[in-house]
Amino acid sequence: MRRSIKAVYPGSFDPITNGHIYIAERAAALFDELMVSVLLNPQKKATFSIDDRQAMAREALSHLPNVKVNSFTGLLVDFLRQEHSRIIIRGLRALSDFEYEFQLALMNRQLAPDIETLFIVTDAKYSYLSSSVVKEIFHFGGPVHEMVPPGVYRRLRERFARPTMQI
Ligand code: PNS
Repeated sequence: MRRSIKAVYPGSFDPITNGHIYIAERAAALFDELMVSVLLNPQKKATFSIDDRQAMAREALSHLPNVKVNSFTGLLVDFLRQEHSRIIIRGLRALSDFEYEFQLALMNRQLAPDIETLFIVTDAKYSYLSSSVVKEIFHFGGPVHEMVPPGVYRRLRERFARPTMQI
């Protein structure tokens, strides 16, 4: 019997964007199970709580039956061992992502040589998109409804107490 292969897609997801969803959809089509794992980093203040970030991701990925959402803290490679996974999924948007991602992947390989990082290239229409850009555009009153799922848009409005923006 073939053993089921689980991959882990880690990130801050603060909040999840349509770009993240695109990567999760493509990864979910390749593996039996995909764990979307939200980092709880006590040293870095996130905009949304860990519970909100997980809830937004869960809602946005509910159309993918083999995707689960959870959270982790500490070293990513330790978390992968705990999850019995050897595959880290990361998205690549542009060349500018590469240096950081390369460092992350090599560091993780140094820590755990049996764990592989696989990169999925984003769709061109998401190449400019990031959680920080979404928050900045929203903060200055710009339209972000096409960059994030509806649940995230709603929570952005709640979080920053802003009425529905006119399109
Ligand atoms: O969405 P992000 O913020 O780019 O995700 C970064 C993440 C969560 C993948 C990375 O910060 C991480 O794995 N943190 C856990 C701590 C760790 O394992 N660090 C060692 C690798 S440098």
